Amino acid sequence: MGQRLAATLSHRIVIVAIGVIGAVMWMPTPSAHAASDGATAREIILKRGCHGCHIIPGIPEATGTIGPSLKGISARRRIAGGKLKNTAANMRTWLKNPKRVKVTIMPNVHLTESEIETLIEFFGTL
Ligand code: HEC
Repeated sequence: MGQRLAATLSHRIVIVAIGVIGAVMWMPTPSAHAASDGATAREIILKRGCHGCHIIPGIPEATGTIGPSLKGISARRRIAGGKLKNTAANMRTWLKNPKRVKVTIMPNVHLTESEIETLIEFFGTL
């Protein structure tokens, strides 16, 4: 009887443990660079309206010509009409609030930190 109870209990513990491990494995692993909501660069760009002003390789909707094309942005020496050296830190400053860098039509669309990181990573591929 006691042995049976012990067997049943250990069975339950194993099942619960498997359940917990399964749940943990199922949870998306947070990556340092991914946007917290899992948004891809394309989703961010479409959500924030960047495509209305920029041509962006790999994003068919991005056909705007008010701003410069972002083709080859990673190889550019300077950005923001020459105002800033093209570094990740400066890109962060620019994306956070372009109007603090210079007088520009580019709006501050209030990107989140993680959106900025996702975009910078994506620009590195352009
Ligand atoms: C209303 C139009 C407009 C929107 C919307 C806009 N931009 Fe811009 N963007 C510009 C203009 C114009 C410039 C050129 C900067 C300048 O000299 O004024 C620019 C410059 C840039 C640059 C620097 C490129 C370079 O070579 O100097 C990047 C990167 C950029 N925008 C990314 C974005 C992203 C990402 C978004 C969306 C979050 C966005 N832009 C939304 C108009 C826009």
